[in-house]
Amino acid sequence: MSMLLKSVLFLSMLTLAWASHTDVYITNSLEGREDLHIHCKSKDDDLGPHVLRINQTFKISFSTNFFFGTLFFCSFQWGNGHLLHFDVYDQKRDSNKCKECKWSIKKDGPCRDELELDSTYTRKCYEWNH
Ligand SMILES: *[C@@H]1O[C@H](CO)[C@@H](O)[C@H](O)[C@H]1NC(C)=O
Repeated sequence: MSMLLKSVLFLSMLTLAWASHTDVYITNSLEGREDLHIHCKSKDDDLGPHVLRINQTFKISFSTNFFFGTLFFCSFQWGNGHLLHFDVYDQKRDSNKCKECKWSIKKDGPCRDELELDSTYTRKCYEWNH
């Protein structure tokens, strides 16, 4: 194999190792079955406003990169309530907790099952951003 080909292969493998595909799912699990209005963004993308009926799911797919801290943040609103905010993906917080991050949106905040060191999952609930 030529030196150039070897270098190209090596660089491709490094890039693959650094870029990792991630899916974030947001499901309307509101106790009162209200419609959930969401609007998610990252630094580079505006995913637009969406309305989720009870149990409907919105999916966000992206690649995280070793060098850049990926952050997706959303607003949430139902009924006549306030606009609430939450970071649905924070690479620093989440990169070793989930490749498929599945949020159930409850009135007190988002919950998900998180991977523990012993490979079991534990239900964790978060508070809305302040
Ligand atoms: C939503 O999902 C939950 C859990 O799967 C289920 O118990 C409930 O009946 C569903 N609600 C509606 C309105 O479909």
